[in-house]
Amino acid sequence: MSTRTISPGIVDAASVRKAVDRQLGEFLRERRTGFRHPRMADLVQLVEDFLAGGKRIRPTLTFLGWRAAGGEGDETAVLRVAASLEMFHSFALIHDDIMDDSDTRRGRPTIHRILAGRSPGERAEKFGIGAAVLLGDLVFTWSDQLLHTASLTRAQTEAVLPLVTEMRTEVMLGQYLDLRATGELTDDVEATLTVNRYKTAKYTVERPLHVGAALAGAGPDVLAACTAYALPLGEAFQLRDDLLGVYGDVRDTGKSRLDDLRSGKNTTLVALALRAGTPAQTARLRALLGDPALDEDGAEEVRAILAATGARDTVEHMIGDRRRQALRALDGAPFTPAAATALEHLAATATRRTS
Ligand code: IPE
Ligand code: IPE
Ligand code: MG
Ligand code: MG
Repeated sequence: MSTRTISPGIVDAASVRKAVDRQLGEFLRERRTGFRHPRMADLVQLVEDFLAGGKRIRPTLTFLGWRAAGGEGDETAVLRVAASLEMFHSFALIHDDIMDDSDTRRGRPTIHRILAGRSPGERAEKFGIGAAVLLGDLVFTWSDQLLHTASLTRAQTEAVLPLVTEMRTEVMLGQYLDLRATGELTDDVEATLTVNRYKTAKYTVERPLHVGAALAGAGPDVLAACTAYALPLGEAFQLRDDLLGVYGDVRDTGKSRLDDLRSGKNTTLVALALRAGTPAQTARLRALLGDPALDEDGAEEVRAILAATGARDTVEHMIGDRRRQALRALDGAPFTPAAATALEHLAATATRRTS
């Protein structure tokens, strides 16, 4: 196996991204040539196109976790595991867009919408959803394949597999909790933060860091330090997503600003507004949120109420508090200095992002 090195000492996200994308590209090329069926080539192409727009935060964190725990030398295995987590994320997004009935992702139609377009006629929508469920399953299988072909040592395998299983379980639970809460608007802010932690914070920040660190043989102290940084940052990441899902610029986010409102998603933003709003404001929110036919005028009214109740500002403050908590956790963390610096930088970009 070849030895690949991303400038020793320095960890910059762009280099990690490039190296992970090389892994993903090679893997998908093998899938295309391994199955000579033309329909498989179509599916591989869909996945290649889908992968094009992601920020790659999870593989970046996998790599940083490895470096933080003292990983050095041949990077091939950690990059392949990092690619596996990005592939897992693709699976989560493909299914999430079906569940959330989303039309756009990363500035393009979602996978189930693209596939619906390939079966004109009455069955188009049903075909799109069924085929996208399958493609998500295939991508999940590929994420597993990337993992078990990473040439890990026995010790690495034993350390990493339980963490990956935890990650998968947590995100499925989180998505289930999210679905259950959708359309059931409450002012239970704590409950929304629990959903946030399971559906996003753990699989986006905590587990990628853990997996990377475990590859480098990290002990419990390093894993605990990863968690102390990751959970507040992961929560802040989803709180930012909630704000972008309502107030973001679609040209930057590549996602609709209506989905969450139309589906009646019980985000922290909404729960805070229901808690702080006047009876008239909360009544309007309850009337507008969850209406599948909500138009731009209705959405503007919701945005104005969410801001007027102070909920929008409160979410901004919560993001800031969590970013500072993540940064404090880095002070004194048993991480290599170069990785700690990169994690400090990432805490800012992941919470101040516009896409
Ligand atoms: C989107 O994740 C889903 C959430 C967990 C909020 P990202 O914001 O990391 O999406 P991409 O991969 O950059 O498109
Ligand atoms: C994020 O879901 C969690 C997962 C995709 C597992 P959301 O539904 O909040 O994310 P977006 O806004 O569609 O990316
Ligand atoms: Mg969702
Ligand atoms: Mg969604």
